[in-house]
Amino acid sequence: MKGLILSGGRGTRLRPLTYTSAKQLVPVANKPVLFYGIEALAAAGIRDIGIVVGDTQAEIRAAVRDGAAWNVDVTYIEQDAPRGLAHAVLISQSFIGDDPFIVYLGDNLLAKGIVPFVERFVDAQPAAQILLAHVSDPERFGVAELTEDNRVKKLVEKPAEPKSDLALVGVYMFQPEVFQAVRKISPSPRNELEITDAIQQLIDDGLTVTPYIVDGWWKDTGKLEDILEANRLILETMERRVDGEVDSDSQIDGNVVVEPGASIKQSKVRGPAIIGANARITSADIGPFTSIMNNVRVHDSAIEHSIVLEGSDLSGLQSRMTDSLIGKNVKILRDPGTPSTYRFMLGDNSEVGIP
Ligand code: G1P
Repeated sequence: MKGLILSGGRGTRLRPLTYTSAKQLVPVANKPVLFYGIEALAAAGIRDIGIVVGDTQAEIRAAVRDGAAWNVDVTYIEQDAPRGLAHAVLISQSFIGDDPFIVYLGDNLLAKGIVPFVERFVDAQPAAQILLAHVSDPERFGVAELTEDNRVKKLVEKPAEPKSDLALVGVYMFQPEVFQAVRKISPSPRNELEITDAIQQLIDDGLTVTPYIVDGWWKDTGKLEDILEANRLILETMERRVDGEVDSDSQIDGNVVVEPGASIKQSKVRGPAIIGANARITSADIGPFTSIMNNVRVHDSAIEHSIVLEGSDLSGLQSRMTDSLIGKNVKILRDPGTPSTYRFMLGDNSEVGIP
């Protein structure tokens, strides 16, 4: 069995971060979302993994390389433009060959991994196996309508009036027959070949598509709120480990990871939280549900339920910062010269909340 991770796409809902960075590399608990997918496939015994990449391929190649870090072999497959998930599958046909395969969307996270789902697929060998999850906003996803005896009746991509609250999770298992189905479908209103339509085509052709409702949590990390929630859920599973330096005037409460080389002085960190390597935290109050990445400096500020990426510098924030995602090398510093003015240099599509 092979794995196919789809890591193209523009990540428009995560701008401005995705102007300069792939959405699949946004870190959750200080680890790129994409790495959780690679780990899930590796844990299911998949050794041959194709990664479909687009405009952001240089960054993804630099982060994943040849897959040796996970003991897998990675093959990169280039998609010339975001032409849809089914298109990404189609251009991977020569990599897949005659093997059954798993398609894993590079921005999806599943609490319990995929091992039991893969086992069921291998045992039953349907043409396709889909995973479904109950959600409160099904119109954002592919939606499944099931029959009373739990067979798939109909799949619709982002329906205005969903027939159920069962969203298609971004992890699909296929036999190579799916390539014929993709060849039969036409582009959707967003001008993409939809994987949802390809699976509907399998059903229309009389092939077996088995649904499996996931029990643990599932997140598509395409939006800020979802990334923050995924961050919270992953942090909650981490165990306390303090490898960095903590001075005697600081207090570390609960499940906090402090990576080697980090230093915490005159500060309070409340778990769950993670402080990355070589971060410098002084006179600050961090957490809960906060991920501070490598080489970040936080001084005289309070941060909770937030993610701060590499190299950023936050100092003298007068109010507690919450529900925030701060990119790389961002500076938010108190400006002593101009006490009652704001001074910003923000990229396109930035969002700032003022009290
Ligand atoms: C894609 C699929 C959708 C699925 C979702 C899961 O949506 O088209 O059916 O429910 O992934 O993450 P997209 O992220 O392309 O909008």
